[in-house]
Amino acid sequence: MAKRLTTSAGAPVGSNQKSLTAGNRGPVLLQDYQLIEKLAHQNRERIPERVVHAKGWGAQGTFTVTHDISKYTRAKIFSEIGKQTPMLARFSTVAGEMGAADTERDVRGFSLKFYTEEGNWDLVGNNTPVFFIRDGYKFPDFIRTQKRHPKSNLRSPEAMWDFWSQVPESLHQVTILMSDRGIPKAPMFMNGYGSHTFSFWNNDGERFWVKFHFKTMQGHQHYTNEEAAEIIGQTREKYQEELFGGIEKGEFPKWAVKVQIMPEKEAEQTPYNPFDLTKVWPHADYPLIDVGEIELNKNPDNYFQYVENAAYSPSNVVPGIGFSPDKVLQARIFSYADAHRYRLGTHYEALPANAALSETNHYHKDGSMRFFDNNSANPDAYYEPNTKGGPVEDPSILEPPMSIHGDIQRYEENDTYGEYKQPGDLFRMFNDEQKERLFNNIAGAMEGVSMEIIERQLAHFDKADPAYGAGIRKALGITPLGSY
Ligand code: HEM
Repeated sequence: MAKRLTTSAGAPVGSNQKSLTAGNRGPVLLQDYQLIEKLAHQNRERIPERVVHAKGWGAQGTFTVTHDISKYTRAKIFSEIGKQTPMLARFSTVAGEMGAADTERDVRGFSLKFYTEEGNWDLVGNNTPVFFIRDGYKFPDFIRTQKRHPKSNLRSPEAMWDFWSQVPESLHQVTILMSDRGIPKAPMFMNGYGSHTFSFWNNDGERFWVKFHFKTMQGHQHYTNEEAAEIIGQTREKYQEELFGGIEKGEFPKWAVKVQIMPEKEAEQTPYNPFDLTKVWPHADYPLIDVGEIELNKNPDNYFQYVENAAYSPSNVVPGIGFSPDKVLQARIFSYADAHRYRLGTHYEALPANAALSETNHYHKDGSMRFFDNNSANPDAYYEPNTKGGPVEDPSILEPPMSIHGDIQRYEENDTYGEYKQPGDLFRMFNDEQKERLFNNIAGAMEGVSMEIIERQLAHFDKADPAYGAGIRKALGITPLGSY
């Protein structure tokens, strides 16, 4: 039998269809509080969309350990082969709003929340191993160039290339974005990367630098610009259809989880700065080490509750996993929880998508929407330290000390390795057809951009590889370098 409809205060509702009016054809009465409640709730159904990565697709699943990496990290999630940890994944595009079409050329977000026995570990990565900038100070300006122009309210290629051409460290990521990998067919067909350098520490107090890789087990599949345009003409929701539809049919996508490990001291010897987010660590020097597998096997029962309300943050680490001096990571450690408090409210971590499965005992109190136990199960222990049996700190999980040196300053990146080697190496790995598509994608993306900006950007492509710049010049239909 159907349950009785009630107001949100629990009182039974007699009619949910007919307003209370003065007379059969008369006006509606202010005392119709049930109507008012219904309309007022509707007005509050939307929360602010994420300032970036607003359009997303999510699923629940499991992480399973297949190889022993406990010599690098004491993190309990990796403690034994066969161990399983529940998780929640959310994939996204970066620049588009919530209603954006799924198959646009953009970087894809790759967020994983692992509900471990020592708290939630969030890996908030992308489908690219590098990023456009290597200092978080630049992020708000960079994002502004990806969003709508304040006057035209249109995306602005002029702003994008103006910024990129003055920030050559972006070249590596721009090359990936404009390559075939720029439009994956669906989240299942792309890799994920933690992108930053993080740290591991083990039970002996040794620290290692680590990069996380999630290799698609479905194989890479991409759309060309033309194919993507055709898809968008048919459906704007391709990824949701593929991911949600696939999981409903029992097709569970999987990724192999791997890490690259660098002993702590070696960071001082690499020719590149291993904490620079625009660089990869060559696999020849730091090979991939197998760790485990993730499988997405359940669609959340409610999209809003589990995908929209999901609050991922690089600051969510667990004992055995830590940060690195990467300047972008350092900025992100602040930014995300701040964004969640604004977007979801003070107690966002108590929402079902974000609540840890492990016990949480803290002294944060009161505040708007404090709907869960406000006493940490002990009314006398509301300050710390106390002798009233409140939760106590555990020094055994303190990170080993990290030594630093140098003067406080706003430093220029000054490694001699430069910004052109790795994008050049990547370009040289592409076959002729891949290069041709890259040239055309870039030329297409430059349509309408001022010549001065195009020339400044072409100089960067030339420095990465003369054939790179030449190919784009040809695609743009402009005079090759040297024949002026
Ligand atoms: C989302 C800030 C760089 C990946 C977000 C959000 C903010 C933000 C405020 C929205 C959070 C929310 O409302 O839930 C920043 C800042 C950055 C930065 C300040 C640089 C300083 C990066 C980088 C990556 C990344 C380098 C990947 C390597 C993501 C992803 C999401 C996201 C995947 C979506 C999370 C989700 O699925 O809910 N970022 N971001 N961001 N960011 Fe960043």
